[in-house]
Amino acid sequence: MSKVWFVTGAGSGIGTAIAKAALRASDRVVATGRNLDKVCNALHDVASEKLAFVQLDVADETQAKAAVEEAVKRFRRIDVVVNNAGYSLLGNFEEMSLPELESQLATNFYGVVHVMRAVLPVMRKQRSGHLINISSMAGVIGFRHCAAYAASKFAVEGLSLSVAAEVEQFGIKVTLVEPGFFRTDLLDERNVRWPSKSIEDYAADAKPKDVWSAYNGTQQGDPDKLGKVLVEIARMTNPPKQFYAGSDAVMTIRPALEARLQEIKDYEALSKSTDGTF
Ligand SMILES: NC(=O)c1ccc[n+]([C@@H]2O[C@H](COP(=O)([O-])OP(=O)(O)OC[C@H]3O[C@@H](n4cnc5c(N)ncnc54)[C@H](OP(=O)(O)O)[C@@H]3O)[C@@H](O)[C@H]2O)c1
Repeated sequence: MSKVWFVTGAGSGIGTAIAKAALRASDRVVATGRNLDKVCNALHDVASEKLAFVQLDVADETQAKAAVEEAVKRFRRIDVVVNNAGYSLLGNFEEMSLPELESQLATNFYGVVHVMRAVLPVMRKQRSGHLINISSMAGVIGFRHCAAYAASKFAVEGLSLSVAAEVEQFGIKVTLVEPGFFRTDLLDERNVRWPSKSIEDYAADAKPKDVWSAYNGTQQGDPDKLGKVLVEIARMTNPPKQFYAGSDAVMTIRPALEARLQEIKDYEALSKSTDGTF
């Protein structure tokens, strides 16, 4: 059956690719973004009555409510929400200011919160729906220079896994997507934010900008292929709770999770030693 998608940050990269893949599957799409011209330009070649454009800066709760209302007005329901909008603040944690950290969370975490709070009543009423929350490898593993970004994505993981257990009873599914490196604008000079402050002690290390900029334009993941796979996942009766997208994600996350399991084994006796004898 044709589905109605609601995609945040649809003006580039993975968001655009998902919107196009859903339209190719004959679904309907509400493509949202904070810069609506950019979203319209990115999708102008697939414009049709199955595609609606709606203004949404996810950091703004009021806009999230209004965008969901607009989507329901247009297509009467929402089947799949893709919380995709995001950016990365990269650098040493100590060099970040609190406002820089808060802005990262305002988009990457609270943006997801705002959209989920707006859309869950709709899905609950429908007794169906699928939330697809785009996290990251950095939502599963901590990486150097990624403290703020990883914190925002780990928060999305905790939120999603917990809410999933609460809303399953209403027929609502939740899937986290942990992409490896995908060829998008995420690491483009214009989009990455770097800490405004620098601390001399970190100067001897490789500069975060040099490390991360090197990935830009060389990422292996193809957003169009990910879009297609997410359309497939949205049609599954039992979709994955956590989907690791790309062979780099699988190759990085598998050993990290195996190491975590090993640590449980190594420290099992010490863990159990904290049990009370009440
Ligand atoms: N590409 C990767 O390697 C990779 C890996 C792991 C996870 N991810 C995640 O995938 C998602 C999509 O990123 P991408 O790779 O496709 O990068 P992208 O091409 O830079 O797309 C990010 C989109 O998010 C939008 N956005 C940023 N802040 C927003 C806000 N406050 N409100 C609404 N839209 C906002 C951007 O819009 P503007 O043009 O207005 O800034 C842009 O369209 C992100 O959540 C990212 O963390 C990507």
